[in-house]
Amino acid sequence: MAQRLLILNGPNLNMLGLREPGIYGSETLADVEAMCVATAKAHGFDAECKQTNHEGQMIDWIHAARGTIDGIVINPGAWTHTSVAIHDAFAAAEVPVLEVHISNVHKREAFRHHSYVSLIAVGVIAGLGTHGYKLAIDHFALLLKQ
Ligand code: DQA
Repeated sequence: MAQRLLILNGPNLNMLGLREPGIYGSETLADVEAMCVATAKAHGFDAECKQTNHEGQMIDWIHAARGTIDGIVINPGAWTHTSVAIHDAFAAAEVPVLEVHISNVHKREAFRHHSYVSLIAVGVIAGLGTHGYKLAIDHFALLLKQ
């Protein structure tokens, strides 16, 4: 059976393409998700993409990944910097996580410099635009096929 990846996007990422294009670019979330599914397929993975603006929904998806999903790529949006609950959900799920940020959060406001998710992530990609999602999926191809 194909290994399964989950591509998760947090709050405001449904606004990609419209939202602050100087920071986040002109691609829509649908563009990014299509690229993620194609990249995953090229590696022989099944990939499912989900986005929510509701923290409890995100936590439920992370819990449901336990024992059913082989790897998670997440852009947690602003929850990166605020959510102990999402950190704890990943700790409970025990699924390898790669954290992606479209922008270089370290070049931005100080409140974006700390990530609760990085504490449990295998790795972090930031500042490479939406290409970061592709790189994360490519990395899972190395990590999961070893
Ligand atoms: C973001 C960076 C976060 O600080 C911000 O709150 C986002 C998007 C990024 O992809 O660069 O919503 O995660």
